[in-house]
Amino acid sequence: MKLKDKVVMITGGGSGLGREMGLTFAREGATIAVNDIRPESAQNVVTEIERAGGKARAFVADVSSSAAVKKMFADFIAAFGTIDVLINNAGIGRTRESNEFTGLQDVADEDWHKMLATHLDSTFYCTREALKLMIPKKSGRIINLGSIAGTTGLGFAVPYSAAKGGIISFTKALAKEVVGHGILVNCIAPGFIETPMTAPITPEMRKQVIAVTPIGRFGEPRDIAAAALFLASDDSNFMVGQVVSPNGGYVI
Ligand SMILES: NC(=O)c1ccc[n+]([C@@H]2O[C@H](COP(=O)([O-])OP(=O)(O)OC[C@H]3O[C@@H](n4cnc5c(N)ncnc54)[C@H](O)[C@@H]3O)[C@@H](O)[C@H]2O)c1
Repeated sequence: MKLKDKVVMITGGGSGLGREMGLTFAREGATIAVNDIRPESAQNVVTEIERAGGKARAFVADVSSSAAVKKMFADFIAAFGTIDVLINNAGIGRTRESNEFTGLQDVADEDWHKMLATHLDSTFYCTREALKLMIPKKSGRIINLGSIAGTTGLGFAVPYSAAKGGIISFTKALAKEVVGHGILVNCIAPGFIETPMTAPITPEMRKQVIAVTPIGRFGEPRDIAAAALFLASDDSNFMVGQVVSPNGGYVI
């Protein structure tokens, strides 16, 4: 087992990539704190992990709120007392049903702020709390979910791309800052992966994406969970501030 007795918090752990990482890490011996803004989703993943013989607990909170994150970490510390791995994974592809792929000229202030808050503010809030536990014990792993949108830019998804680009720079700067404390910070920048987030992509657009993806398909959540397991385990002891991008060749 690669994560025996490790305590792992996964934000947005109730769906898609977060769920898959939770199930994978639990199989490797970790105890999983499953955060999600949707109570049912978090609880369902906890139940799945427990049914498979693993250990998990739900922490319902909106991680784009500083106060909610502080409260969640207080509850989390009361339950587990320590953290070994934080995965900043919570995210949204669009800020409301109707506004996926909006030209920037039509993006409203509140949609811009919600996109940045959900991805970038949440990464800051959760990381800040985790560091308070990791720095004194001189160890920890932080894995941030970026995206190819943040490395290459996606037209008609400028707020999302800006948020993910911010997460990549956050990763690099923080990695330098805390490596001396024994904390390794890295980023995963997935390409297009089959999850509820990408389900609304139209068949036409799906075809266009696959046409420019050399491997000729979307990725599976397990492709990302495998990268996350690598970055969480001792296999990646020399990885500092890196952007690992499982993307089927979409960006080379
Ligand atoms: N699926 C892809 O193709 C893809 C590609 C690149 C990056 N990503 C990134 O990976 C991460 C996971 O995406 P996914 O595809 O699994 O999406 P998903 O929609 O399946 O899961 C995201 C989860 O985050 C939760 N969430 C949203 N806002 C939250 C908040 N404020 N507080 C707490 N939880 C919140 C949702 O409820 C949901 O359960 C996201 O950061 C996403 O941007 C996904």
